[in-house]
Amino acid sequence: MLKQLRGLLRIMLALACGAIPVSVNAADAPAKPAAKQAARQASSKQVERGRYLVMITGCNDCHTSNFLTTGGKTPEKDRLTGGELGWRGPWGTTYPVNLRLFFQDMGEEQWIQLAKEIQRRPPMPYFSLNAMSAADLRAIYSYIRYLGPAGKAAPAFVPPDKEPPQPYVQFPKI
Ligand code: HEC
Repeated sequence: MLKQLRGLLRIMLALACGAIPVSVNAADAPAKPAAKQAARQASSKQVERGRYLVMITGCNDCHTSNFLTTGGKTPEKDRLTGGELGWRGPWGTTYPVNLRLFFQDMGEEQWIQLAKEIQRRPPMPYFSLNAMSAADLRAIYSYIRYLGPAGKAAPAFVPPDKEPPQPYVQFPKI
């Protein structure tokens, strides 16, 4: 009887220590979905933070058509698809790029590097991107990638000596 008990104890110990392969698999199984879930939660937090940052830093104001004039009513699925409205000044006429397409061709590290040193024509506030932390830039990247590709490319830049088609906003000469 005592001998049998000892034998049982030994098996239980071995199971607890993972010495018997079956117990290793059994112990591992719940860990995998938990790790996946943690990764999913982390990435949905990133997307959420990106959504917040894009909203408060005003990217939609220019990169989403009519966002400023409708009080930000554009449904999220149609946002950041670029602007048809030109911004004309001494620099020529610029058009806010379709960011939904722009981010499809860009890796995350490439984006961080670009954002640090980017300079573009007015009225793009590139200096705001230059000032952002890598963590914030990553969140914005995750959010726009999460939205996925949509829309078509914005109209091409028009040089200062050429008359752009309507509609455009005219800035004063500086
Ligand atoms: C006041 C209007 C305005 C706002 C606000 C704005 N942009 Fe822009 N953005 C533009 C315009 C116009 C261009 C095109 C500039 C050019 O042609 O040189 C541009 C260009 C860019 C580019 C360069 C794309 C390329 O092809 O090189 C990136 C990236 C970008 N914007 C991201 C953002 C992000 C992210 C935000 C929010 C933090 C933002 N923009 C806010 C107007 C704006």
